[in-house]
Amino acid sequence: MLTQFLAALGFLTSFCLATNSTYHNPILPGFHPDPSCIFVPDWDDIFFCASSSFLVFPGIPIHASRDLRSWKLVSNALSRPEQLPGLNTAKRATSGIWAPTLRYRDGIFYLVTTLVYDDYPKNASNRFDNFVITTANPFNSSAWSQPVHFNFSGYDTSPFWDDDGQVYVTGTHAWEVQPGIQAFPLNIETSQVGEIVNIWNGTGGSSPEGPHIYRKDGYYYLLIAEGGTGSGHMATIARSKNVLGPYESDPKNPVLTAANTTRYFQNVGHADMFQDSEDNWWAVALSVRQGPDGSYPMGRETTLTPVTWNEGEWPVFTNVTGKMNGWHLESDAPVAEGEGSLVTSGEHLKFKANTTLPPEFVHWRFPTPSSYSISPPGHQNSLQLTSSISNLTGSDGRSAEPLGQTFVGRRQVHSFFTFSTTFDTTSLAAEDQEVGVTVFLDQLHHYDLGVVMVQNSTNSTNISPYLRLRGITTVPGFLSSDIAVIPVPNSWATKHIIFEIRASNITHYTFSAAPAGKKSQMIDIGFAPGLGLTWGFTGALLGVYATTNGGETEFQTYVSDWKDRFASSKDIVNVH
Ligand SMILES: *[C@@H]1O[C@H](CO)[C@@H](O)[C@H](O)[C@H]1NC(C)=O
Ligand SMILES: *[C@@H]1O[C@H](CO)[C@@H](O)[C@H](O)[C@H]1NC(C)=O
Ligand SMILES: *[C@@H]1O[C@H](CO)[C@@H](O)[C@H](O)[C@H]1NC(C)=O
Ligand SMILES: *[C@@H]1O[C@H](CO)[C@@H](O)[C@H](O)[C@H]1NC(C)=O
Ligand SMILES: *[C@@H]1O[C@H](CO)[C@@H](O)[C@H](O)[C@H]1NC(C)=O
Ligand SMILES: *[C@@H]1O[C@H](CO)[C@@H](O)[C@H](O)[C@H]1NC(C)=O
Ligand SMILES: *[C@@H]1O[C@H](CO)[C@@H](O)[C@H](O)[C@H]1NC(C)=O
Ligand SMILES: *[C@@H]1O[C@H](CO)[C@@H](O)[C@H](O)[C@H]1NC(C)=O
Ligand SMILES: *[C@@H]1O[C@H](CO)[C@@H](O)[C@H](O)[C@H]1NC(C)=O
Ligand SMILES: *[C@@H]1O[C@H](CO)[C@@H](O)[C@H](O)[C@H]1NC(C)=O
Ligand SMILES: *[C@@H]1O[C@H](CO)[C@@H](O)[C@H](O)[C@H]1NC(C)=O
Ligand SMILES: *[C@@H]1O[C@H](CO)[C@@H](O)[C@H](O)[C@H]1NC(C)=O
Repeated sequence: MLTQFLAALGFLTSFCLATNSTYHNPILPGFHPDPSCIFVPDWDDIFFCASSSFLVFPGIPIHASRDLRSWKLVSNALSRPEQLPGLNTAKRATSGIWAPTLRYRDGIFYLVTTLVYDDYPKNASNRFDNFVITTANPFNSSAWSQPVHFNFSGYDTSPFWDDDGQVYVTGTHAWEVQPGIQAFPLNIETSQVGEIVNIWNGTGGSSPEGPHIYRKDGYYYLLIAEGGTGSGHMATIARSKNVLGPYESDPKNPVLTAANTTRYFQNVGHADMFQDSEDNWWAVALSVRQGPDGSYPMGRETTLTPVTWNEGEWPVFTNVTGKMNGWHLESDAPVAEGEGSLVTSGEHLKFKANTTLPPEFVHWRFPTPSSYSISPPGHQNSLQLTSSISNLTGSDGRSAEPLGQTFVGRRQVHSFFTFSTTFDTTSLAAEDQEVGVTVFLDQLHHYDLGVVMVQNSTNSTNISPYLRLRGITTVPGFLSSDIAVIPVPNSWATKHIIFEIRASNITHYTFSAAPAGKKSQMIDIGFAPGLGLTWGFTGALLGVYATTNGGETEFQTYVSDWKDRFASSKDIVNVH
């Protein structure tokens, strides 16, 4: 009775006082590109989003919200290596999971996406592994199914259920070979693919991709991305009375872009649309927050924008800015269900016994499980890392080493943050053994501050610990790989060392170290520009690593007191 009364009151309030809402972009900050979102009345009016994860594992994060403002990680759709063994063999940092499309129908969540082997020739038939995974419970990573693969030589596949229940998949043909958006009927149970038809080539921009179909007012609307995922990125739309075309282009295209503007939110495109409980339309699109020097190390993030879509007309998108005025939204409590935490929250992890790494923590490709152990005997409240032979670069710079890389991290989600953690470096002895913290974009773009055992040049039998900050990037005009190398000060008289990474200004990371328990003795080791991590398709991760840099002598190190804090007041969300 009371709930009915409150529901009626809520309805009246929203009906009578349907004032616009204010919210801030990005809604999913950090490495959350190619968003696809849905509104699911069957699941208590919750919104769900999926985003691309490339080679990160666990992958395909699913976020949920009741009010489009506070978003919680509720599961990772890829959480078991046996779901997709190929993720470990795909070389090149731009390989992996591209552009999932999330849809809901009759109690089942469908996720359709592509594992791209970006190192294969453009015309190789096994370059694109398309598949469908499903779940009846989006709050449980383990409940996502094994993939059902279907044969399509393209990427960004997206399902659409026509009025008669027939599923059509749209996808992007490998555009270097033959451009265009293609569509075909798919039997979603047997994965049988029907005839493939080229339905639209876009408005002439490069890389027509990321298609989604919507049905409205007797038309099929086809929303796509064009211009490449850089500064020329845009969303364009076309419509047809028939699902397989011919499609006519909106004369007002592009419907959404930041091209040729000086806005803080750049590279806007690759959108998906959905309606809320009041039938208002919204779109999500990827975007980057570009610094004054052109840097955006957090990569492509998810933004939200209201869409005005009158009957029989083309949808009109609002340009993406930091502070947004959109359709009426009730403030609502965050989703209670699910495995993770709010996407914007900090972390203070003490690695208590009998806990597991939270689902926000990711590896680059599959981890070697035995390399990570929480609170092993004699090391309470710590994460034991067993060193990998490979460092974060890997011997050929790109592939997965057979024994993996000991690395775990979280996405950088705030422009201004402080990440610190303490390492026990006692067991480091052999030359080149190294532990530390990193800002990691991929295997060819990362900055690492660590303790490394270095042979003394004036006394070769003396191997001693040095604090070393070094980096690697392919971005031209970058600094030398070793930014700073200094002996661990004798005065510290401890092998327990705090490492800290800060983004203290809009262009640079600062790397510091201190003896454990004596933060007042912290010294800045050096700086590195975000520009060196502004590359490719992924976004910065903040994490820890342990490596022998090619040496054979394995060792253990212990990480404790993981703190990831941010200065929200300094985060520039209001820049237009
Ligand atoms: C792919 O392209 C290369 C170079 O153009 C060509 O040599 C090769 O025969 C092509 N392979 C297929 C399967 O079309
Ligand atoms: C999650 O799903 C798995 C696989 O279906 C199941 O075994 C497990 O009990 C579920 N966990 C919860 C908390 O529902
Ligand atoms: C996939 O489809 C292509 C044509 O589109 C066909 O040549 C190829 O044999 C198919 N592969 C499989 C495994 O069915
Ligand atoms: C798209 O371009 C291809 C290759 O240029 C062409 O064969 C095809 O007819 C075009 N499709 C449409 C729908 O215009
Ligand atoms: C941006 O400007 C360039 C150069 O004038 C032009 O070619 C391009 O079409 C413009 N892009 C958009 C989306 O307006
Ligand atoms: C969005 O910005 C573009 C310039 O990039 C402008 O032409 C367009 O009118 C704006 N759209 C709306 C709906 O304000
Ligand atoms: C409310 O938001 C919609 C969608 O952005 C917009 O069209 C409308 O002008 C806004 N109304 C007010 C009063 O700001
Ligand atoms: C962890 O779990 C083990 C086995 O269930 C139990 O014996 C131990 O007391 C637990 N430790 C803590 C700190 O909860
Ligand atoms: C390197 O060896 C020389 C000579 O033994 C010594 O003076 C110096 O302190 C050593 N440096 C380090 C960092 O251990
Ligand atoms: C070189 O280092 C070793 C090990 O620290 C030390 O025993 C030895 O005395 C050093 N020799 C010189 C010449 O400093
Ligand atoms: C940020 O800090 C670095 C290191 O001190 C400095 O080189 C850079 O100019 C600063 N950037 C801005 C925008 O102040
Ligand atoms: C990584 O390790 C290799 C040896 O396996 C070494 O040659 C290389 O210098 C290291 N580089 C970086 C940047 O980590």
